[in-house]
Amino acid sequence: MVRKRVGVLVSGRGSNLQALLDACADSAFPAEIALVIANVADAPALARAERAGVATRTIPHRDFPSREDFDAALDRALREAGIDIVCLAGFMRILTPGFVEGWRGRMINVHPALLPAFKGLDTHARALAEGVKLHGCTVHLVVPDLDAGPILAQAAVPVLDGDDADALAARVLIQEHRLYPLALKLLAEGRVRIGNGRTHIDAPAPDGVLANPQP
Ligand code: GAR
Repeated sequence: MVRKRVGVLVSGRGSNLQALLDACADSAFPAEIALVIANVADAPALARAERAGVATRTIPHRDFPSREDFDAALDRALREAGIDIVCLAGFMRILTPGFVEGWRGRMINVHPALLPAFKGLDTHARALAEGVKLHGCTVHLVVPDLDAGPILAQAAVPVLDGDDADALAARVLIQEHRLYPLALKLLAEGRVRIGNGRTHIDAPAPDGVLANPQP
């Protein structure tokens, strides 16, 4: 089995990165993390990658005159590292359409809400304010519109009486850590087809052979 080379973009704590690192530590997992890039020099996520022996780069967005220039630097770093799949894991920068198009079908994001509800920031506080009874997380393919790409996987949690945003976030985060490696596995196995803006998941190929290898 040829494992897909994954590049993870991070900005902060890196708990989702950790979930991906832990999954990839199993040599039977169909992907390996080859590079972690942070746009913030002191992102705790970088230390997690280093502990796992994964190469890291810091590419501070403030060093670039425009979003296009920053994204071009990201793109160069990912391509130099031979990356097949990009995972956004708490990466808090909006990416330009040109960059996103270059990774179409090969870039995924984890979002802390049941999309298409609660796109953007402060999802847990907004879910509480709306009084929803179910909340959760989504892994989706990235398209130029924010938090809008075809949905790969979702997990729901109940909203409990007495929840505040932190309690709800913690319950959702447990599901993010479960869901993100699962979604990456599906993509890395070449089992994800996209039609009419929706994903369809093919059955696993026999004998661990990768179906529909990504370009
Ligand atoms: C996660 O909850 C992730 O879903 C969210 O940021 C957190 C990052 O935590 N992402 C977004 O809001 C993206 N718009 P982590 O750094 O511990 O993985």
